[in-house]
Parts: sequence; C-alpha cells; structure tokens
Amino acid sequence: MKHLIAPSILAADFARLGEEVQSVLDAGADVIHFDVMDNHYVPNLSFGPVVLDSLKRRFNDTPFDVHLMVKPVESMIDAFLNSGASYISIHPEATEHPDAALNRIRRGGAKAGIVVNPGTPLSVLDSLWGAFDLMLIMSVNPGFGGQRFIKRSISKVSEASKMIQAHAVDVLLEIDGGVSAENIGSLSRAGANIFVAGSSIFGADDYSQAILEMRNAIEPRV
Ligand code: DX5
Ligand code: ZN
Repeated sequence: MKHLIAPSILAADFARLGEEVQSVLDAGADVIHFDVMDNHYVPNLSFGPVVLDSLKRRFNDTPFDVHLMVKPVESMIDAFLNSGASYISIHPEATEHPDAALNRIRRGGAKAGIVVNPGTPLSVLDSLWGAFDLMLIMSVNPGFGGQRFIKRSISKVSEASKMIQAHAVDVLLEIDGGVSAENIGSLSRAGANIFVAGSSIFGADDYSQAILEMRNAIEPRV
C-alpha cells in the first residue's frame, strides 16, 4: 500500500492559505489534512466549511482529509460533504451515535474515519468494525499543532495494524500529531500508511526537502 503524506494546514500561514496549499502540493503532498476545531470539543478554534469551499474551487482535484474535532458533529458532516471532502473523520466521544455518524459520511460519498485519542483504548472500535474506512490514531491530544509526539503511540499503531489484519478489512491507518522524519520510520514499520504533519512541514524552510526526508525515512533507500 502506498504511503501518503498529508500536510496539516493548521500550521500554514493563513494570510497566504492558497499559496501554502499550492506549495505543499508542488512539494509532493498527497492529501491535505484539514483540522476543524470548535472551542467546545477541543479548546481551540480553527476554520469551517466555507474555507474548504474556497480551497476546493481552486484545488478541485486535490483530496481533502477533514478531521472533525467538533461536538455535535452531525451537521458538520453534512456541511463538509457538501464542500467536497474526500475523507471525514470523527471522534467517537463527540457523538451519541458513532455508527450512524460513520454511515452518514459514507452515504454522502466520502471515506469514513474514526479517531482514537491518546487516552482512548482501541476497544472503542469493537462494535464499529466494518463501519469505517480509515482509523486515525492521535499521537498528541487533539486541539493544537506543534505538540510533542507521544511515543507510546507507536505500539498503539502496531496493535491497530494487527487488528485491521485480524478483521481482514480494507482500512487505512493514519497517524496525527508530532509526526516528523524522526519518528515516521518507526510509524511506517508499525503499519501506518497516512502521515499527517503540520509543523514539521510548514515550519521547514523548504517544504520539498521536508517531505523528501519523510519519504526517505519511510522507505529507506539501500
Ligand atoms: C491536532 C491536529 C493535528 C495537528 C498536527 O489536534 O489534529 O492535525 O495539526 O500538527 P503537528 O504535526 O504540528 O503536531
Ligand atoms: Zn488532525
């Protein structure tokens, strides 16, 4: 399975958002990660569907990976389906009805993702197998970019990867929070295949170089 690099535009310069997206695409990004925060489910506020509308008008062919950190989540699922999200991920803590929320995403034509926080056990997925296309493991607590990577997330990714194999399902395994060229090799060996990175890409002087270093760490050249 191909490894996808997903820059998180939470770390971009919002005064130049379109140019920033163009730059990371030119630098080799596969997917754009779009962090939606509501100052309720998480203690921070970011951007909403009108921002995705504008970006989709300019980057129509680019897949956007929408990470919803909002409660309640249902009306935002509909809004982001309308805005053209390719992937929409939800936190099970943010809805009374996670199965229904995942179905709602799929019915709207996007890939449905379920997010597992650092303090949430993987058993939260037990009754949801078959209902999601993507599992997003958080390696920081949701709410802010630029936090320190929580190391025990690597073993959580390998446990999640084994669960996916045991269930024989086609599920993407995404990691989000503090991802950099330092830890991306271990994360890919543990089974992750989509890598979200905010500050380690947008904080770099050269986005192409930052993405190349990540790719080389995922698939070392011998
Ligand atoms: C945190 C967000 C992350 C964040 C990643 O709540 O979900 O996507 O933007 O940023 P870095 O890579 O800087 O940790
Ligand atoms: Zn995110």
